[in-house]
Amino acid sequence: MLEQFNEALAHALDGLPDSRVKEAMNYSLQAGGKRLRPMLVLSACEAWGGNWKKALPAAIALEMVHTYSLIHDDLPAMDDDDLRRGKLTCHRQFDEATAILAGDGLLTEAFAVLAASALSDHQKVECVSILATAAGSSGMVLGQVLDMEAEHVLIEDLNELERIHVNKTGQLFAAALKLGSVVAEKTEYMDVLDRLGKMMGIAFQIQDDILDVTQNQESLGKSNSDAKNHKTTYVSLLSLKTAQQHMMEAYQKTEELLKILPIHAHGIEKIILEMKVRLK
Ligand code: IPE
Ligand code: IPE
Ligand code: MG
Ligand code: MG
Ligand code: MG
Repeated sequence: MLEQFNEALAHALDGLPDSRVKEAMNYSLQAGGKRLRPMLVLSACEAWGGNWKKALPAAIALEMVHTYSLIHDDLPAMDDDDLRRGKLTCHRQFDEATAILAGDGLLTEAFAVLAASALSDHQKVECVSILATAAGSSGMVLGQVLDMEAEHVLIEDLNELERIHVNKTGQLFAAALKLGSVVAEKTEYMDVLDRLGKMMGIAFQIQDDILDVTQNQESLGKSNSDAKNHKTTYVSLLSLKTAQQHMMEAYQKTEELLKILPIHAHGIEKIILEMKVRLK
């Protein structure tokens, strides 16, 4: 599954005219992410008995949106980081203008990929709507702007921090589960999938905040810059130990939510386990 996904992603931009921005888009796409979100799209489709190969365009579209979010997240105006996926960040490898445009290009191309897919018109509209809503200013972009604002105003309320995590990270996980389900034509459980994806995002982001203080940048493959940027994180707000407890509770809740769904959950369970034991 992962191999086929990587193979398809490697050719996803082939039809675009050669340019510096295409080079930068490919640079960041191919830098070697863990591919958790696209694997979740394919596994969700399979969990409902669908043909996961039909979900490849949706998985590619989501990875493009995720990669764009990382390119912009690393920009000097945002987290100002030099390292991503074990390589120089896009704006360090190229330049700031090219990195901004590479992000724009990936975000836009994601929807072109969905439009050009072999899905039915109805499925395409559903996928476009899910991805746009999750990525936009009521989803990931909202989470990012709240995250940036929180650099200047100390957050003391755990619910507010959770709201940031749900949006900046949970929304794209929820989109992954929902995209896979649309492709499998099983859409009766969208509410549960939404809650499950958001809970995965909370667990994942708490863990990301923990890894930011417990790992060095060589093992992370990215700059650990939360302290430098005065981020409020679960670790800074609580303590490492309490953050770890909250993370384990969130993972526990994902397992409970998963049980509500009448699916073959094995593939999704495997991804959750992979998330849990990761060190980057
Ligand atoms: C990084 O996501 C951004 C966060 C939401 C913390 P990943 O840890 O999934 O990054 P890649 O795709 O593997 O590089
Ligand atoms: C950003 O969270 C999540 C995105 C929406 C890109 P972080 O800023 O913590 O992600 P990393 O640690 O740089 O990967
Ligand atoms: Mg950030
Ligand atoms: Mg960052
Ligand atoms: Mg982080």
